[in-house]
Formats: sequence, structure tokens, C-alpha cells
Amino acid sequence: ARQAPDILSAEFAADPYPAYRVLREEEPLFWHEAMRSYVVSRYEDVERVFKDRRAEFTTDNYSWQLEPVHGRTILQLDGREHAVRRALVAPAFRGADLQEKFLPVIERNSRELVDAFRGKGSADIVGDYATRFPVNVIADMLGLDRADRSRFHGWYTTVIAFLGNLTGDPEVTAAGERTRVEFAEYMIPVIRERRADPGDDLLSVLCAAEVDGVRMSDEDIKAFCSLLLAAGGETTDKAIASILANLLAHPDQLAAVREDRALIAAAFAETLRYTPPVHMIMRQSATEVEFSGGVVPAGATVTCLIGAANRDTRRYRDPDRFDIFRDDLSTTSAFSAAADHLAFALGRHFCVGALLAKAEVETGLNHLLDALPDLRLADGFDPVERGVFTRGPQSLPVRFTPTPA
Ligand code: HEM
Repeated sequence: ARQAPDILSAEFAADPYPAYRVLREEEPLFWHEAMRSYVVSRYEDVERVFKDRRAEFTTDNYSWQLEPVHGRTILQLDGREHAVRRALVAPAFRGADLQEKFLPVIERNSRELVDAFRGKGSADIVGDYATRFPVNVIADMLGLDRADRSRFHGWYTTVIAFLGNLTGDPEVTAAGERTRVEFAEYMIPVIRERRADPGDDLLSVLCAAEVDGVRMSDEDIKAFCSLLLAAGGETTDKAIASILANLLAHPDQLAAVREDRALIAAAFAETLRYTPPVHMIMRQSATEVEFSGGVVPAGATVTCLIGAANRDTRRYRDPDRFDIFRDDLSTTSAFSAAADHLAFALGRHFCVGALLAKAEVETGLNHLLDALPDLRLADGFDPVERGVFTRGPQSLPVRFTPTPA
């Protein structure tokens, strides 16, 4: 048999889309020896894993992927235990809490960062904005002391490095495990303080949450906060850089968005389809499962290629084209478990922070477009996306006419 494209190679990391096409068409199910995993790439197969209507999959793989750095998070839970945990945490990320408490936090943090560079005439949207904004938002939502921000950012950096450690570099692994200890040493006393003296912040909300007589332990809350670094930080950071990179590469669509800001919702949904921040999600098969390309035995790891599924011609017309006006992608249902693109997954682990992410990206893009009126890429710069598990522009140097804060 012909060798399937190597989804861990440097060539693949530079541009996975040609390889995705080959996999979708010719090897819709294949065994990746180095990853010790089956890999699926068609929309219908990835959707089936995420929806998991027949309870064929578990997230047991996260016990080795996430546990060493985060502890036991909501992502490692299945069944009733997961449903209860989900009911405990989800209300904070939608409705009144999101609108009244956290929207002002989002606004303030975005503005602070934009104000720091709008007078300069140039900035790197990745380094000066995207990698800072969502992490700052999480720290403020949790009500952490702003004096501790640089430590929080340090943990963010080591967590991201741990999760992206494809080669298993032992120093990166050790740093991730140390972060788990340091993060606990920092967070557990803060959690105890909030239990004793609650405020208006997310941490106090999580401490008070109760469903069917169940509450979260200090360790549960700490693990959830740790997960937010990666789940809510790195993903949104990449989404912001990608939406801007995609629009800058399509000036007519950027002009349309500038003119009518209601189009940002469509630009965000299309960005998540076309260049999703998370490219690979894994599951464990609990039973034998039949996919379009063949059968996976029970007890196997299955890797879902979101970036490939989102460009499946069986699902989207002309999928390799970035088009915020396409009529085969829902822009409203894209933020519920009925979403059609797969960037937030689907089913019971569907991204709990999808609406928060949407609020951050919409606020952020509005601020950038308002403050930087003639925003353009730095001369000769061509944004390069990199990454295998998660993916986004590595830097995005831009120029603009300076404006006063
Ligand atoms: C779950 C993507 C933003 C918190 C997920 C999953 C994906 C995802 C693919 C499913 C993982 C799986 O099924 O194994 C994204 C993307 C984002 C984003 C692309 C930005 C554009 C956020 C934000 C937060 C967040 C802002 C919160 C601050 C979570 C949590 C889960 C999750 C807690 C686990 C839900 C569960 O297990 O029930 N996200 N996410 N995410 N996300 Fe997001």
C-alpha cells in the first residue's frame, strides 16, 4: 500500500491541507504507527465521533494527554459524572454572567492592549495582542490579583508547550509537571479565600455552584482553571490572529466587514471552518466501530482531523476558499451544539466557552478595526500558519496610521 502522508512531519506542519485532501479521498481511515492511533478525516466520520450517539467513545486518552499538567478536568469525564460537571460550570459562560459580568472584562482587556500600540504605527497582532488578550481575560474573570499576571502568563506558556510537545522532550514534560504543582500551590489558597469571602468573579461562582447536591472540590476547581489556560487561551488567541490574517488576505471581504460589523459573526464562523485553531482531537473506542473507511477495534485511539473534515467537499462547496458570504455554513448555530463546522467539536464535550470566544473575537476585531483605520500587513510579510495539534499564524506584523488612545 502507498504510504499515507505523515501528519507529524515538518512539511505537514507548514501546510497540512494538501495532505488532508489525500487522506479524505484515499485513506479516510488509517493507522498512524508513531501516534499509535487510527486517524479519520471525513466530515461524517469526525462528526460521528463527536456526537457519539451510540456511546462508542470515551475521553480516556486525556488521562495521559492532559492529566500530568492539569489534573483531572471536565474533559476526562464521561457519562453522568460529565453531565453533572458540565451543568456546574456551563452557566457561567452564557447568559447573564457572560453579558453583565464578563463582557466589561473583555472590553477593558482588549482596550488596554490596543491602547498600548495604537499610537506607534506598527504592531505584531500575535505577540502584542492575541497571545495576551484571552489569557488576561481569564485571569480577570477568575478575579486574580493583577500583580500575579506575569506568573499566570508563565504557566500559560509552559502548559501550551507541554500540550504541543510532539517529540516528548523530557525538559518540556518536566516543566509542565512542575507547573501543575506551582499552579495548585497558587490557586488552592485563592479558592479557599473565595469560599470564605465570595465576590462577583468566576472563581466565586464555581465555588458556589451546586447541582443535585454535588459541588466541586478545591482540586476540581483548580483543574478547571488550569484547563482554561489551554482551552480558553491558546484557542482564542489563534482564532483572533487567524480571523485577521484571513481578512487581510481577502481585502474585499475585509472592506465589507469594516463597513458592516454585523458580518464579523460570519467571518468568525468561516475562520473557524477554514482555519480552525484545534486540528486534532482524540478519543478511545469503547467498542468496535465501523467508519466509512473500515473498522476500528475496541480500545483503540482515534484521532479526528478537524482541519480536514472542515474542508470536506462532501459537506462544503469549494471548501478551500475563504468566503464569509458562503450560504452552506450556519453563522448562528455555529455557537451551539448544533454547529455545523467542527472547530468547537459537537455533542457532550462541545466547547463550553464558544460564546465567550465569540464575544472576545467580536470585541477584539471591532477594537482593532476602530483604532487602526488603515490596518495592513507589514511590507512583504506573508503570514505563516504553523502547528499540528493547534495551528495559527506565528506572527502578524501590521502597519497603520497612529491614532491617539
Ligand atoms: C472544549 C475548541 C474557546 C473552554 C472544546 C473542544 C474544542 C474546543 C474542539 C472539544 C474538546 C473535545 O471534545 O475533546 C475551542 C476553540 C475556541 C475555544 C476553537 C476558540 C475559538 C474556549 C474558551 C473557553 C473554552 C474561551 C473558556 C474560557 C472549554 C472547555 C471545554 C472545551 C472547558 C471542555 C468541555 C467539556 O468537556 O464538556 N473547546 N475552544 N474554550 N472548551 Fe473550548
